[in-house]
Amino acid sequence: MNDLIQKMEGDVNITESRKTWMGSLDSGTQEILGKDARYFIHQALSTPCMEVLEECDGAYLVTSSGRKILDFHGNNLHQVGYRNPHVIESVTRVLARLPFSPRRYTNKIAVELAERLTSIHPGLSRVLFAPGGSEANSMALKLARIVTGKFKVVSMWGAFHGAGLDTISVGGEASFRKNIGPLLPGVEHVPQPDSYRPFWENDAEQNKYVEYVRYVFENEGDVGAFIAETVRNTDVQIPSPNFWKKMRALCDEFGVVLILDEIPIALGRTGSFFAFEHYGIVPDMVTIGKGLGGAVFPMAALLTSDKFNQAIEHSVGHFTHEKSPLGAAAGLAVLEELENRDLLRRAKSLGEMMRVRLVDMQDRYPLIGDVRGIGLLWGVDLVTDRTSKKRAGNEAERILYHCLENGLSFKVSQGSVINLCPPLIISEDELHQALDILEGAFRSITASDQ
Ligand SMILES: Cc1ncc(COP(=O)(O)O)c(C=O)c1O
Repeated sequence: MNDLIQKMEGDVNITESRKTWMGSLDSGTQEILGKDARYFIHQALSTPCMEVLEECDGAYLVTSSGRKILDFHGNNLHQVGYRNPHVIESVTRVLARLPFSPRRYTNKIAVELAERLTSIHPGLSRVLFAPGGSEANSMALKLARIVTGKFKVVSMWGAFHGAGLDTISVGGEASFRKNIGPLLPGVEHVPQPDSYRPFWENDAEQNKYVEYVRYVFENEGDVGAFIAETVRNTDVQIPSPNFWKKMRALCDEFGVVLILDEIPIALGRTGSFFAFEHYGIVPDMVTIGKGLGGAVFPMAALLTSDKFNQAIEHSVGHFTHEKSPLGAAAGLAVLEELENRDLLRRAKSLGEMMRVRLVDMQDRYPLIGDVRGIGLLWGVDLVTDRTSKKRAGNEAERILYHCLENGLSFKVSQGSVINLCPPLIISEDELHQALDILEGAFRSITASDQ
């Protein structure tokens, strides 16, 4: 079981803690959960579920039993918070007049969002919308084949780029790839730059990771695309500036399209609109999603340059909800919220608050091996001891259930990394409250283990 958990992107729904949790729920909640488990197809990481939601608002989820939970998980889509009034008002206005736009036609609001998104960065002046992040990555992979005439892809072990067959092929997570049959051919994987448990010693600048990719590009010879998250969301891996600078140059040298998947981390999460801005590079393509739909509508996008607008004889996306007026209304409202409420700056300043508190916890709890983060995305890496850096056993899960009981939700990655992803609109008080709950969990787990 531990082996399975450590390969998982998120938390697992078949552990002993989950069983104990289920036993503690009221009968009304249990009844709905029972029906949910009866009718939905079971799958790892979701069904069976653990509680029933009644409402969401700002940074909070409210369950059917009235439990209020600060949501630091939010599937990474709640940058502007749940039920954001501006988003709801914009979507409701469009809902009353033009809820759908069949593909033969366009509509003002979709064009307006396209115009806004393509004006953020001069190198990314073309856009295509999709109903989800996995589909946005599929479009990028397809377009990369079209513009390069090469079908091979290099990606990273452990990466998640979506749950479609093509995206699990470029993804690197065993829990999605194992026992599922043949995947997309022509995909090579390389190690993810890891600052805490580096693949190679004495490589602070992460040059060896770049050299390895060069080796693959050279020996494979006909690679068309390199896809990776700029900053990996799940276990919060933040590559060195040197890594991305050199990777950008390497892709240029080999005529490889650089696709950055920023589906969970664009739109201000890291303190800049796109995470690649921290590195002073521009990818050939970037995919965004999740928060683009304002925590209301499924909405994602591929952005690229004019020079890649070459697919006139292919359908790159061709999705039913391609120019959804509702999705576009949500997207525009999100962009306005980011700007009007200065949320990028807020992500940076609240992120600094989080850093101080988490480092302080690290000083006091040897269970915390590493704390790493950027903007309002933080990872707390738990270890059995700091010398070996061996991943902790079930402590992250015990901490999770302790926090859930006390009103804080977050994702656990690879069984031992606590992933903290609050909405950017969270108040300072709420942030401290959440970190108090987390600290209380560390205190309690540590005390009970002594
Ligand atoms: C990095 C990354 N890429 C792609 C996706 C897929 O997005 P979606 O679930 O909207 O298909 C996700 C979703 O978690 C993600 O984190």
